[in-house]
Amino acid sequence: MPKSKKAIVVYFSRDGNTRKVAKIIAEYLKCKCVFILEAENISIYDLIVIGSPVYTLEPVSTVTEWIKSHDFTNKKVVLLCTYTWFGEQRSIKIMKKLVQRQNGNVIGFHVTVAKHKFFKPDRPNSEDLNKVKDFAKNVLKMWKKS
Ligand SMILES: Cc1cc2nc3c(=O)[nH]c(=O)nc-3n(C[C@H](O)[C@H](O)[C@H](O)COP(=O)(O)O)c2cc1C
Repeated sequence: MPKSKKAIVVYFSRDGNTRKVAKIIAEYLKCKCVFILEAENISIYDLIVIGSPVYTLEPVSTVTEWIKSHDFTNKKVVLLCTYTWFGEQRSIKIMKKLVQRQNGNVIGFHVTVAKHKFFKPDRPNSEDLNKVKDFAKNVLKMWKKS
């Protein structure tokens, strides 16, 4: 991470999928990874990574409400979604709009297929997780340049 710049990953996760993806990103960014309702004052961070599962074709309301109650002026934001079937692009769009409304600059997003109950039990698989790692490396690169 560039000196004097700080990043944080915040996520909501009920069943662990989004947490898994969030943790990989945080590992590469060498930053904190916290459950969204435990996120402290975000004003000290320059890069904020926000992760949400897709619930009924939308990001979870815990995440959208959290975004609505924060100011992202002068902050770069990266969005993550995990999902089993569909609704991921729509969810990213919704989160992006909300972040922009709060003055944030969305610099990237990543979506990951993940299991739900007995559906797609082997996801995310190693290929999915490698894609997350590649994405994390790219975010780090962009972050270093900025
Ligand atoms: C109440 C509920 C609604 C869901 N709705 C969708 C959906 O609309 N589209 C989809 O692809 N997956 C849906 N899923 C699956 C989750 O998006 C998926 O399992 C996700 O990875 C869960 O994240 P988590 O493990 O971090 O909680 C739903 C799951 C739950 C529990």
